[in-house]
Amino acid sequence: MDGNGRWARRKGLPRTEGHTAGEEALATIVRESAASNVGWLTAFGFSTENWVRPRTEVRHILSLHRKLFGRTEEMRQRNARTRWIGRPFHEKGAKTPIYVQRAIQRAIDDTKSGTGLTVTIAFDYGSRAELLRAVRHAMTQGPVSTDSIARNLYDPTMPPVDLLIRTSGETRISNFLLWQIKGARVHFTERTWPDFTAQEYRTSLTQYSKSHS
Ligand code: FPP
Repeated sequence: MDGNGRWARRKGLPRTEGHTAGEEALATIVRESAASNVGWLTAFGFSTENWVRPRTEVRHILSLHRKLFGRTEEMRQRNARTRWIGRPFHEKGAKTPIYVQRAIQRAIDDTKSGTGLTVTIAFDYGSRAELLRAVRHAMTQGPVSTDSIARNLYDPTMPPVDLLIRTSGETRISNFLLWQIKGARVHFTERTWPDFTAQEYRTSLTQYSKSHS
């Protein structure tokens, strides 16, 4: 979800406004996913590297996560459930503050009966940290294999990624689901995240379907 800052700068607004618009854009894409029968949607909400951003910006993004995780009623109406991946709260190095932990836990509990769409938010997440931990755990369980690493990912039930979307003209892969994106189609777009529309999302889904039919 790149480009919140750039979107705000172009409009002469503070970066925080860009993140607020970004959270709304994500809510739109969640609705569209439910309507389009997408099974799993995973969003990179906050990375292990994002903590170094200015305090006010971090605080604002965290409050947006509380807002996002608080959208439980709408999730239930859409038969969707919320999940989370990131550094487990009580492990060394984990940084999720207690109030975000509570919001995450409540969102998971309140939506667990959703059987349509699974929305996973990656918060305090980094793919390298996930993989390092998975390998360390796998080593305690016997010979390390691709299966044993996969079993020790933060959410071993998450299916491989079919489609990866990266906004704002960034054509790099970041520290996101590096194990899970093997074989994924990648949709790059010049649009900043707050300008990413349901229509462009539908187009990317159609292109994916065509490439797999
Ligand atoms: C990247 O844009 C975005 C982030 C680091 C945070 C993602 C947060 C949101 C989309 C808002 C809230 C979302 C949730 C999940 C509650 P950037 O700040 O790097 O923008 P720039 O590249 O233009 O500087």
